[in-house]
Amino acid sequence: MGIIGAGPAGLTLARLLETAGIETVVLENRSREYVEHRQRAGLLEQGTVDLLTELGVAERLHREGLVHTGLSLQFDGERHRIPLTELSGGKHVTIYAQTEIVKDLVAARQESGLPLLFEAEAYALEGLDGERPLIRYRREGGEHELECDIVAGCDGFHGIARPSIPDQVVRTFSREYPYAWLGIIAQAPPSNDELIYAHSARGFALLSMRSPSVGRLYLQVRPDERIEEWPDERIWEELHARLGLPGWSLVEGPITEKGVAPMRSFVSEPLSFGRLYLAGDAGHIVPPTGAKGLNLAINDVRLLGEAIVRWHESGSRDLLDAYSAACLRRVWRAEHFSWWMTTMLHKLPDGDPFDEQLQLSQLRYVASSEAAARTLAENYVGYEPPTR
Ligand code: APR
Ligand code: PHB
Repeated sequence: MGIIGAGPAGLTLARLLETAGIETVVLENRSREYVEHRQRAGLLEQGTVDLLTELGVAERLHREGLVHTGLSLQFDGERHRIPLTELSGGKHVTIYAQTEIVKDLVAARQESGLPLLFEAEAYALEGLDGERPLIRYRREGGEHELECDIVAGCDGFHGIARPSIPDQVVRTFSREYPYAWLGIIAQAPPSNDELIYAHSARGFALLSMRSPSVGRLYLQVRPDERIEEWPDERIWEELHARLGLPGWSLVEGPITEKGVAPMRSFVSEPLSFGRLYLAGDAGHIVPPTGAKGLNLAINDVRLLGEAIVRWHESGSRDLLDAYSAACLRRVWRAEHFSWWMTTMLHKLPDGDPFDEQLQLSQLRYVASSEAAARTLAENYVGYEPPTR
């Protein structure tokens, strides 16, 4: 199997196939240092933790991850706790950074002595509709090829796998949002034990964390916002204004990372063509408001891994053929949930008063109705829709 991309999708798939004794080569165009330090999200559904546990790569996750049984929504100057675990039949979420998952998976791969080639850039895919597709890649100044049974396109949104599917068979769906997130890592203990999603007249803010001593915080900004416009003092001032409440204040600390990330929803259908299968950001993107991106990527490779194992062991392609449709059920549920959370919580730049009232009404409904809160909780902890 040829796997393009050593993000969470590619690395988890490689590990899954390793446990079934299936040979894989992982090609990653960046350096190990780069993939292990890229800041991304860090909230794991229970199903994600379960899979990483089964794959024997969750020892540090269980030691260092923070289990959360609820979150808070804040609006109109009040904070409302949503008891996720109570409302979802006992499920919880875990805070553990995506970069740490990547480090754990890379270490496991290296310990097994299996091929994971960094600074290896796949540049062309050939024969995808035949029996032996080919990946062409560049490494150390030379051009190489890898012939395989299956190509897994785990190469993210900007990779080459998705564009290798002929236009005539592809249908894409997308939405751009009129805002972005400015995210920081702060060397300060989180000011709350659980996440706070805050809707305010100044825009959305999120308090999250990485550990008991490191905070992760986000601010809604313009999509074209330049990080240079945000000296540390301005970031803290804005976080205080959006998250502060009478009698409660944020603890500040040195900011060690900051960056602006765009927000978009995107789905490309189908997620397979011939012997190419897309997984993770290569096939779909969600805005970060529900923390679904990483969890979807892991769910994709769980299904893809099972399908490949079945084919390898029994010769049956049934799960491979069903992969795209099965995956898309969950992808679209997460697309809807992420869009819903995003549009409920962010301030619309053009401030249509009718829209604002709808947002507030929706927030009040979630905060006061158990049925509405349960809907949020069920999706937030990870809803598995029936596959047909
Ligand atoms: N050749 C080899 N590797 C490539 C190529 C290429 N042509 N193009 C991209 N890559 C690599 C990227 O460098 C990256 O390391 O593919 C990897 C894709 O990893 P991710 O972007 O982390 O995507 P994925 O594994 O699907 O994980 C999805 O990442 O963006 C977040 O929110 C998202 O949490 C979600 C997760
Ligand atoms: C994060 O901790 O990075 C995070 C948490 C929850 C989100 C998005 C990001 O909804």
